[in-house]
Amino acid sequence: MSQNREQWGSKLGFILAASGSAVGIGNIWKYPHMAGQNGGAAFTLVYLACILVVGLSIVIAEFVIGRKTQLSPVGAFEQLAPSTNWKWVGFLGVASAFVILSFYGVVGGWVLKYVIVSITGGFNELAGDPDAAGKVFNTFITDTWSPIIYQVFFMAFCVWVIVNGVKGGIEKWSKIMMPLIVVLLAVLAVRGMTLPGGMKGISFLFNPRFEDLTANSIVLALGHSFFTVSLGMGTMITYGSYLNRKQNLLNSAVWVIALDTAIAMLAGIAIFTTVFALGANPAEGPGLIFVVLPSVFSQLAGGTLWGTMFFVLLFMAALTSAISILEVVTAYFIDQKGWSRKKATIQFGAVITVVGVFCSLSMGGGVNITEFLGMTFFDVMDYLSAKYMLPIGGMLTAIFILRKWGIPNFMAELKIGMEDTNISSGLVQIVLTIAAAVVAFIIFNEVYAEIFGKALIG
Ligand code: PFF
Repeated sequence: MSQNREQWGSKLGFILAASGSAVGIGNIWKYPHMAGQNGGAAFTLVYLACILVVGLSIVIAEFVIGRKTQLSPVGAFEQLAPSTNWKWVGFLGVASAFVILSFYGVVGGWVLKYVIVSITGGFNELAGDPDAAGKVFNTFITDTWSPIIYQVFFMAFCVWVIVNGVKGGIEKWSKIMMPLIVVLLAVLAVRGMTLPGGMKGISFLFNPRFEDLTANSIVLALGHSFFTVSLGMGTMITYGSYLNRKQNLLNSAVWVIALDTAIAMLAGIAIFTTVFALGANPAEGPGLIFVVLPSVFSQLAGGTLWGTMFFVLLFMAALTSAISILEVVTAYFIDQKGWSRKKATIQFGAVITVVGVFCSLSMGGGVNITEFLGMTFFDVMDYLSAKYMLPIGGMLTAIFILRKWGIPNFMAELKIGMEDTNISSGLVQIVLTIAAAVVAFIIFNEVYAEIFGKALIG
């Protein structure tokens, strides 16, 4: 361990940074529309089961590997299994960071644009007219330059935070933004619930409709449990590597999962109560945030304020997640190549931005370099990471502990900092095995569907 490796300043700072990574566009945008379309509470129950079994065990696994080695993923696997191919799991994580951040940065740019439009009262003319809101959104994202300019600003914010270091940048900003996200969302949720008709949104989200829960919903819930907790690409290994040996890792992981889940639920409440109160279409799917919400917020008294609050909190959530993705790349170049933090962050922030420009241009405003696949480059990057790279990375991490590093070594590190909690190694082994098996099945199911045109389930 290098002597001057950066460290988190406090336990709370670490938990807020790790949950800042977890809480992002996935919670506020993806979860509500997925739950809305896949059986409400029925979907939520499956999602909770996935988070508890697969999510929790892999978060703990990543924290343990990071804290043990005090290194980011490539170095960590290399240290625990020298001269083997396991380091490629670390490289897969670095590659996933490039893939995810390229399109995540584009969406971050859209959110930034919507912050500015909402502050300047631009939603007013969209009141009650989702068609007009849809046109505005489409015109914006298919433009050539405008989304790129916002994306560059969003990425520049990320770079700036990371250049300021683990404690002085990431931790400091997570400590400011995470509480603000919770407060703003809570205010919006209360506002939604007190609107006439708002409670219909709660029953839409929380009444179980098992008839809408298909096999495909179950696969979706599992895949989402990886994305939403930032698993499978070494983000939590990297964040765990800045810990000293005092922290209780089980307790920290439970906090991160609980905050992530609570914020997803709160976002669902805030969105659906408002959508129902104003009679908009709750099953709009992905367009819910950029199309339906601008047209409903502006119908409320003080609409500019509500709209601004929502997009500001979404911006902060996107930023704290994007930061954690870029930090994986930065930490690799610091740990393995000896670069300075500033040089690594600026150079690779710029490279990822350029890849992201191609995601943005593929929406219609320029070239689509994956036209031959029949998909936009943006969708290819999203699909590749969420369906394959993250689940494969997570599964290999579990297999690494079970088959290579060994449960006894893993338990020895896990137990440091949690002397008064008793946890049996048999239980850990069973849970990790279930996690790896479930994910292996999902990946097999995806590949099967690609080859035979029909999934085994879903
Ligand atoms: N967890 C983030 C979200 O829910 O939006 C996305 C994410 C962040 C995925 C960091 C992966 C990652 F490493």
